[in-house]
Amino acid sequence: MLSFNRIRAQPRGNRSMSLGGGGMEYADPKKKNNFCGKILMVSTLTALCILMLRHSPTLNTPTQFSSHEPGVTHVLVTGGAGFIGSHAALRLLKDFYRVTIVDNLSRGNLGAIRVLQQLFPEPGRLQFIYADLGDAKSVRKIFSENAFDAVMHFAAVAYVGESTLDPLKYYHNITSNTLVVLEAMAAHRVKTLIYSSTCATYGEPDKMPITEETPQVPINPYGKAKKMAEDIILDFHKNSDMAVMILRYFNVIGSDPEGRLGEAPRPELREHGRISGACFDAARGIIPGLKVRGTDYKTSDGTCIRDYIDVTDLVDAHVKALEKAKPGHFRPFSGSSVNEFVAACKKATGVPIKVNFLPRRPGDYAEVYSDPSKIRNELNWTAMHTNLEESLQVAWRWQKAHQNGYGLMSA
Ligand SMILES: NC(=O)c1ccc[n+]([C@@H]2O[C@H](COP(=O)([O-])OP(=O)(O)OC[C@H]3O[C@@H](n4cnc5c(N)ncnc54)[C@H](O)[C@@H]3O)[C@@H](O)[C@H]2O)c1
Repeated sequence: MLSFNRIRAQPRGNRSMSLGGGGMEYADPKKKNNFCGKILMVSTLTALCILMLRHSPTLNTPTQFSSHEPGVTHVLVTGGAGFIGSHAALRLLKDFYRVTIVDNLSRGNLGAIRVLQQLFPEPGRLQFIYADLGDAKSVRKIFSENAFDAVMHFAAVAYVGESTLDPLKYYHNITSNTLVVLEAMAAHRVKTLIYSSTCATYGEPDKMPITEETPQVPINPYGKAKKMAEDIILDFHKNSDMAVMILRYFNVIGSDPEGRLGEAPRPELREHGRISGACFDAARGIIPGLKVRGTDYKTSDGTCIRDYIDVTDLVDAHVKALEKAKPGHFRPFSGSSVNEFVAACKKATGVPIKVNFLPRRPGDYAEVYSDPSKIRNELNWTAMHTNLEESLQVAWRWQKAHQNGYGLMSA
């Protein structure tokens, strides 16, 4: 406010100028210097004021997102422009949650955000903040300007193969960014965290199926980075009243049954990509065939056995976890299981996809699937949509209708 007063001093300078115009013919250099100095000071102070206003959270116009509202739960969805995050945001909005999406669009799609904005245009329902969770200053600003009740933390780089080639990127993006989010949550007393983890944190367990009691011994940087993030959350949780739910799952397939959202990874990630994307790329002829990496594993047909979950079931589990989260609770959960992916993919797309058998991929394990009893019993959750062929059929419909993904693939 002081600065504002000083800016108002400017008209006085104008007044003395007009007086001078009446009685003096020559320019007094001392006065001129004085006048220039004043102009300089006023400009500097104006610039300072603008800067202070821009950076002061309290002086920003309050919105429905900036204060808590009784009966409304405001959820921060990190990575909400991505495959799972966008589906989770859609479900939360349908269930009348208030949603803020934070995403740096490094892997997500602005097109997904646009779909959500068109579906929920009412004020106070959805806002999108373009920001990088690696930028702690931005994250602190977001938390100080918004009143979150809970966080669903999806944002991550999430490709096993890429993690073996660029491990530091994974430790930074997954582990240290989770620390940044957790610190901001603690500072602003946000009491509920639903963390999106992975069964890659289990590595290659001796005993199948995986349960929440299976020792976590990850064998690739992706799994290790997620395990470290889990450990940080767990350690923090021991001395706080934050409610934490960690969901660990395998390959997520399918898409919104109503065809509004889908999975649209960046073309440059195809090489590291997930089998769901590769299956559709092969069916569309974008890639010559499906690469099956490793045929000498100790499994019935020599190829890896994996676990799949439909994205609709997965977001249902996240919302149930959010509803159930109580202060002080910590719960880890795993997903459910299916295999024979390639055959189902051929059936779902109706395309006789060519399959190329290649050597093993570094960091891969033979057989992993999980037992979902704990999540079924504690959250009353069952996978209703996870049928490999049907899930792939739904996703294939979206893929066929969106040959170019969301069309807008970058920031
Ligand atoms: N898709 C799967 O099969 C699968 C399986 C197990 C676990 N997960 C986990 O689920 C979560 C979401 O995965 P997905 O398949 O939707 O991936 P995705 O790549 O589609 O989405 C991730 C989103 O996070 C954003 N993001 C990445 N780094 C960011 C950063 N520093 N700041 C802000 N935003 C950032 C990306 O732009 C993207 O929109 C991840 O945490 C992943 O580890 C996924």
